Amino acid sequence: MPRIAVIPGDGIGHEVLEQGQRVLAHLSQRDGLDLNFEHLPYGADRYLETGLSITPEEMQGLRDYDAIYLGALGDPRVKSNVHAREILLGMRFELDLYINLRPVKLLDARYCPLKDKEPEDLRFVVFRENTEGLYTGIGGQFKKGTPDEIAIEAEMNSRKGVERIIRAAFAHAKARGLKRVCMSDKSNAMRHGHELWQRVFRQVAAEYPELETKHYYVDVLTMQMVRNPEQFDVIVTNNLFGDIVTDLGAELQGGIGLAASGNLNPESGIAMFEPVHGSAPDIAGQGIANPLAAILSAGMMLSWLGHPALEQELEAAVKHCLNTDQVTRELGGELSGAQVADAVIAQL
Ligand code: NAD
Ligand code: IPM
Ligand code: MN
Repeated sequence: MPRIAVIPGDGIGHEVLEQGQRVLAHLSQRDGLDLNFEHLPYGADRYLETGLSITPEEMQGLRDYDAIYLGALGDPRVKSNVHAREILLGMRFELDLYINLRPVKLLDARYCPLKDKEPEDLRFVVFRENTEGLYTGIGGQFKKGTPDEIAIEAEMNSRKGVERIIRAAFAHAKARGLKRVCMSDKSNAMRHGHELWQRVFRQVAAEYPELETKHYYVDVLTMQMVRNPEQFDVIVTNNLFGDIVTDLGAELQGGIGLAASGNLNPESGIAMFEPVHGSAPDIAGQGIANPLAAILSAGMMLSWLGHPALEQELEAAVKHCLNTDQVTRELGGELSGAQVADAVIAQL
């Protein structure tokens, strides 16, 4: 009986996860998967009520689930965003979910902002390093609030961290029969950390002579993603660049409401699945949030749980909704998030 920790979080996180869970519950019942959902209240409401984001024991407790399903974290009432960092980045760091796997896949060409692109032109995955880089909080502030103040945010790149994400990208390409791995950094300007990325990339690439490799500085990567996205199979990059380029990738595939992700550690078997988008306070509470990113993330979770055919089936159902204009407003449709999920379930 697979146990799934459901953390709706904040804002539209609640709305999209409710729909994602309905879809999962439908498949569970239909196929006898016996999925067991346990709701965990980590988010802004609890933080504001109790001062707690997530305790060390609760974080440890997450290790016991077969998968974690997350909505989004971030609430305008918590200006410092401290609870979101402690819960979201806390999970990524403390559970050592070093792979942030973010597929960019065009399901319906009409939603692509680039002209003359077909689904076969846009199907790559981003391997975003998820446990270090500029996200660790290493640094500090000095003479805060004075004219002489200084703020330092240090980028941390460990040999282990860089190597394992690059290895994961190559292993994925090989296992899926893909041809190309592109690494992106900014080693022309950042000569310590990103020189390490360069060296490790060359070293690991030498073990995969059958794969084509490419390197782009991240500024040119964004240009190439727009100009010629066909060239990419797998992109591997650091934490911050991966964050930025996957919002660009989301738009290329039809919008942030369609972008799914998995935060994975294949060695420990711990994994967390979430849409790429955030809590969208600007539309929260209206029932209009697009649930498809959360639903596709649920599909990734089903694959992780050993049901890859269900991920494909779910993707086909989502594609059908897009093809038949059964979509939310930001995609030009009229449906609520719940109605989009109804359409997915009907198709299943
Ligand atoms: P956002 O992704 O929440 O929203 C950006 C824009 O996209 C908004 O206009 C929003 O309405 C729209 N949008 C996002 N998801 C949508 C959906 N499913 N359907 C329709 N429209 C959608 O980014 P933001 O506004 O920068 O962030 C809001 C909060 O979310 C912040 O606190 C941020 O830190 C947080 N955030 C959390 C995560 C996460 O938990 N993984 C990810 C990104 C942002
Ligand atoms: C994401 C988000 C987070 C990130 C924020 C909320 C810290 O943008 O998951 O893409 O930058 O990783
Ligand atoms: Mn992001």
